[in-house]
Amino acid sequence: MMIDWKKTKTTLMRGAAVCVLGIAMSALTARADSILNYEPHKVIPDEKAKCEQCHENAVLAWEESTHKKTYDELHLRDEAKAVLTRLGKKGSIRRNKECVQCHYTQTATEAGGRPKTVMGVSCQRCHGGAVDWLDVHQDTEGIPDRAERKAKAASLGQRLTDDIYTLAMNCFQCHTVPKEELVNKGEHPAGSDFELVAWSQGEVRHNFLNDDPKARAEQDTNHEASAEEKQIFYVVGKALDLEFALRGLASATTEGTYLTAMGERAQKAYDALKELGGMDSVLSQVPMDGGKVKVASGNKAEYEAAADGIRKVAKTIESNQAKFSTALSAAASKLPSAYHGEVYE
Ligand code: HEC
Ligand code: HEC
Ligand code: HEC
Ligand code: HEC
Repeated sequence: MMIDWKKTKTTLMRGAAVCVLGIAMSALTARADSILNYEPHKVIPDEKAKCEQCHENAVLAWEESTHKKTYDELHLRDEAKAVLTRLGKKGSIRRNKECVQCHYTQTATEAGGRPKTVMGVSCQRCHGGAVDWLDVHQDTEGIPDRAERKAKAASLGQRLTDDIYTLAMNCFQCHTVPKEELVNKGEHPAGSDFELVAWSQGEVRHNFLNDDPKARAEQDTNHEASAEEKQIFYVVGKALDLEFALRGLASATTEGTYLTAMGERAQKAYDALKELGGMDSVLSQVPMDGGKVKVASGNKAEYEAAADGIRKVAKTIESNQAKFSTALSAAASKLPSAYHGEVYE
């Protein structure tokens, strides 16, 4: 079944429902710092069958992505076994408690129940486990007002595109790899060389709903984010990068590859934000040492306080663009010209 887009009367304006933001964020703070930013018992196991009823193209795009394909082949790779061996672990990466946090999607029949690995990095890892929000989300007849429906779904854990901080936070939780032992002992990469525009507008892109109602009804064009949106993505992405690098530094207990990598990541994000200008409300919170971002182990409280402070500011960039206009306009000249992976057409 395809949804009749012409029947949804309200326009698909981004950022229209500011109240949605508040609700989504308060629902989030309780579990925000955990890497496992989802609970397996909130994940519906038959995701593809459900979502494709109305988002067929998004599903097709996802099926071409590394996030999907990794499920079929990562566990067979020698590197995966090598990381586990270095950590002194046996078994498959698909069943390892730590690895599954970032590499897969799990589902469980009840809270605390035995989780089962069912997919790669799926819709619900980014948009939130759908058990609670799916019914409301698709109830276009019961709740005809779109803003109201979205606010309700957000309060039940759906992560929407109006709130790019909350949606993109997922990326950084996985792509920063704030796990000391995994990096130092397992020799796992200390995160990806991640920039939000380049990494979201390539193979991850699945943007079929926006623009005029006619195009929406057909859902046949995978739109690139607009220039303005990309500028927001860029600035929010750099703030998130800095926040999560500091969260990484917070958990460092010793010298080593991990500490160095998180320090370099923090410095790079700091420099990028400084270059944009107008980001003092973020930069002033970073622990410094002789003009550089402080890189030290055993400093949990200081780094966490800084990361929390940066989060508070970073969450407001999209809803308060006037305040960040210097950085947002400077971002125009920083946007990448090439994207990560092939766009689904
Ligand atoms: C019965 C139809 C239906 C099903 C099933 C459905 N959706 Fe949607 N979805 C919609 C409609 C309609 C919209 C447009 C926004 C609105 O009117 O609520 C939408 C919009 C969205 C959005 C964008 C919302 C925003 O504004 O940021 C996301 C994300 C989304 N759906 C995710 C999913 C996922 C993930 C699934 C599967 C678990 C799913 N949807 C299943 C109908 C559906
Ligand atoms: C905090 C999130 C996180 C955890 C936990 C995690 N990984 Fe990863 N892993 C990643 C990310 C992100 C990448 C991609 C890095 C990149 O862009 O190069 C990756 C890449 C890999 C790769 C390399 C793939 C390649 O193309 O070279 C292997 C192998 C791997 N992980 C194995 C593991 C194993 C085994 C575990 C558990 C012991 C684990 N990972 C735990 C996030 C994580
Ligand atoms: C649950 C953890 C998780 C989340 C959330 C996540 N990723 Fe990933 N992503 C990974 C892992 C792990 C890999 C590497 C898989 C592999 O190499 O097999 C990866 C791979 C990718 C790739 C392909 C990289 C390549 O080298 O080909 C892109 C692009 C990407 N992610 C972008 C994003 C973006 C953008 C977001 C947020 C909107 C995001 N990811 C959210 C875990 C995650
Ligand atoms: C790696 C994280 C990630 C995964 C996996 C993911 N999404 Fe999204 N999704 C996003 C981001 C980020 C956006 C916002 C993109 C933008 O605004 O340009 C988005 C936007 C959307 C939208 C609104 C797009 C529009 O046309 O306005 C829908 C609908 C949606 N996703 C559904 C899905 C479905 C269904 C799946 C699974 C098949 C899925 N997403 C998988 C991160 C993800």
